[in-house]
Amino acid sequence: MMKNILVTGAKGQLGSELRAIVGEKDNYFFTDVEELDITNGEAIVKFVKQNKIGLVVNCAAYTNVDKAEEEEVLADLVNHKAVQNLAEVCVENDVFLIHISTDYVFDGSKNTPYKETDTTIPLGVYGKTKLQGEQAIVELCKEYIILRTSWLYSSYGANFVQKIRRLSAERKEIKVVVDQVGTPTYAKDLATFITFLIEKDMYKEKTAVYHFSNEGVCSWYDFAKEIVALSGNKCDVQPCSSCEYPTKVVRPSYSVLDKTKLKTDFNYEIPYWKDSLKKMFE
Ligand SMILES: NC(=O)c1ccc[n+]([C@@H]2O[C@H](COP(=O)([O-])OP(=O)(O)OC[C@H]3O[C@@H](n4cnc5c(N)ncnc54)[C@H](OP(=O)(O)O)[C@@H]3O)[C@@H](O)[C@H]2O)c1
Repeated sequence: MMKNILVTGAKGQLGSELRAIVGEKDNYFFTDVEELDITNGEAIVKFVKQNKIGLVVNCAAYTNVDKAEEEEVLADLVNHKAVQNLAEVCVENDVFLIHISTDYVFDGSKNTPYKETDTTIPLGVYGKTKLQGEQAIVELCKEYIILRTSWLYSSYGANFVQKIRRLSAERKEIKVVVDQVGTPTYAKDLATFITFLIEKDMYKEKTAVYHFSNEGVCSWYDFAKEIVALSGNKCDVQPCSSCEYPTKVVRPSYSVLDKTKLKTDFNYEIPYWKDSLKKMFE
């Protein structure tokens, strides 16, 4: 029998993509903070028990990387403490947990793709709280999959693609950092992988941390060039260094994820980032 599935943070980029793929199914419960606040421990227990939840996909998170530096307590509450509580509820109720984490658990000092086993050294509050959330799950849960992803974008919500689209329509020239390298990930591709895990029962006996991003490598500058080209906007994109655009938090200069483990364990093919970006524009 199909399990009842709780998706938290369902109005975010990933949650919305999941909802669009799944459609209306009786065994899926899509919730966001208004219906189910993941920091409310009692509400989580009640929801899981009442709806006989057998699997949770935690898409809820505090995702504003810069603002997290000022709102550390809130970021910690959502990304760490609530996840720890969620992990406890999952253990007590025999629930499988699929959790999403980030490339920002790494400091970016490598120059070859990060493996799941590489040392984590987050540079800012967001990365630190996300890592603590991961660690709570690994410590408490017997059955989980943690998917670390990077540079998520989607047609839902605010993200880099939407920002560059808008700016390039308004301006003649924009400058974008070229010294931070990673891989964009179309949230729809990640959502497709998650539904593959669930619908094909592939998650069973695969408890581990996995990396999932699109294939390939680029800088934010290259990413922006591609977005502007696909938008058809006449805007000159110029490369610049991170020092020219100081932000509240230093981001890893290199955060490409090695996806070998996921591709091997699940025999899964991941789309190339440019192909996925084109698909989003179509
Ligand atoms: N975005 C990226 O570039 C990126 C990169 C790597 C990893 N990730 C990870 O990927 C996952 C999905 O990211 P995303 O881009 O889809 O995030 P998102 O668009 O910011 O969505 C997160 C959702 O969670 C909701 N939320 C916040 N606090 C909550 C709470 N206490 N209870 C329930 N819901 C709450 C948010 O509501 P509000 O909008 O009202 O706060 C939002 O709807 C996250 O775990 C994130 O850390 C993201």
